[in-house]
Amino acid sequence: MGKTIAILTGGGDCPGLNAVIRGVVRSATLERGWKVLGVQDGFDGLVEGPRYLELDLNAVRGILPRGGTILGTSNRGNPFQYPVRGKGGGRLVDVSRQVVENFHKIGAEALVAVGGDGTLKIASQLNDLGVPVVGVPKTIDNDLRGTDVTFGYNSAVGVVTEALDRLHTTAESHQRVMVVEVMGRDAGWIALESGMAGSADVILIPEIPFRIDSICRAIVRRKERGSKFSIVVAAEGAFPAGGDKVVQKTAEENFGVERLGGIGHFIAREIGRCLDMETRVVVLGHVQRGGSPSPFDRILGSRFGVKAVELIESSAFGSMVALRGRSVEAVKISDAVGSLNRVNPDGELIRAAESLGIMVGR
Ligand code: F6P
Repeated sequence: MGKTIAILTGGGDCPGLNAVIRGVVRSATLERGWKVLGVQDGFDGLVEGPRYLELDLNAVRGILPRGGTILGTSNRGNPFQYPVRGKGGGRLVDVSRQVVENFHKIGAEALVAVGGDGTLKIASQLNDLGVPVVGVPKTIDNDLRGTDVTFGYNSAVGVVTEALDRLHTTAESHQRVMVVEVMGRDAGWIALESGMAGSADVILIPEIPFRIDSICRAIVRRKERGSKFSIVVAAEGAFPAGGDKVVQKTAEENFGVERLGGIGHFIAREIGRCLDMETRVVVLGHVQRGGSPSPFDRILGSRFGVKAVELIESSAFGSMVALRGRSVEAVKISDAVGSLNRVNPDGELIRAAESLGIMVGR
């Protein structure tokens, strides 16, 4: 008898999730004759219901180029701290037992959990409670340890780079400073790499607290050299030296995760105080998470899906697939979560950026 396995996608969506789902379904069914169940809306589908659908070859036909996730996702459904509405407001309850019961109820022998830090932490805890889990690292932020890169990141960098190319022509025509705020939470990868690819003049990341006077000096220097416009890329988690990041909602107000956003407007205001130049702010927001995955993410997501099935076959539970160099390997989920993969402020990438004349805020 073939196995029955389940897959869910948790946390914020990103391009490439469908590539993973398709990779799991195709390698499990075509090569092994297994049955695959897709749990809907992240862990919510195991808290309620259970809600799931059978994923056969027809269900995954044509989904490789599609953004988002055909299974739905949620970044509010931590079963160990599940938000429940009641009289006088909400409270957090532990419904993990219910999740374990529902997992067994659907008849699955293993669970592929596709997600970022939050989802994989939950997956690891469920593994300890007897749900055999294999993790797949996802996030546009690229802030997970254990893997050289997460899928979704390359697509997001592509979107931001294209936006920067487009903003260059309008910034130049109007001789403006364009401040472009990008996602990434507390890691500056998206800002740094898309800023380098999109020829930004200033790149501000959470790993290097910035100084407004240095930014203004860099813009003036460019002007003196004949470039009358500037592009400033700011990670949403960037903050001024001696100051704080801009938080829209605290973790307490937002299901355990801070909602960032607004630093772009702060920077534009401050630049306006020291320079007599027109400044505009562009917040790219969820555009960075939407749309079709890049070829790189389609391939990486597919390879991750195939590897996840291999790990289930060899009962390597509690592990996560990871890109190491050029090969896809297994690492322990616990080695990947807990602390973030952030940009090294003294590393080669920052040095290269500075050598190219990009100002990084110090
Ligand atoms: O982690 C991915 C991410 O897009 C972050 O870059 C961003 O801060 C956050 O999710 C936005 O979350 P939400 O979709 O809940 O607004």
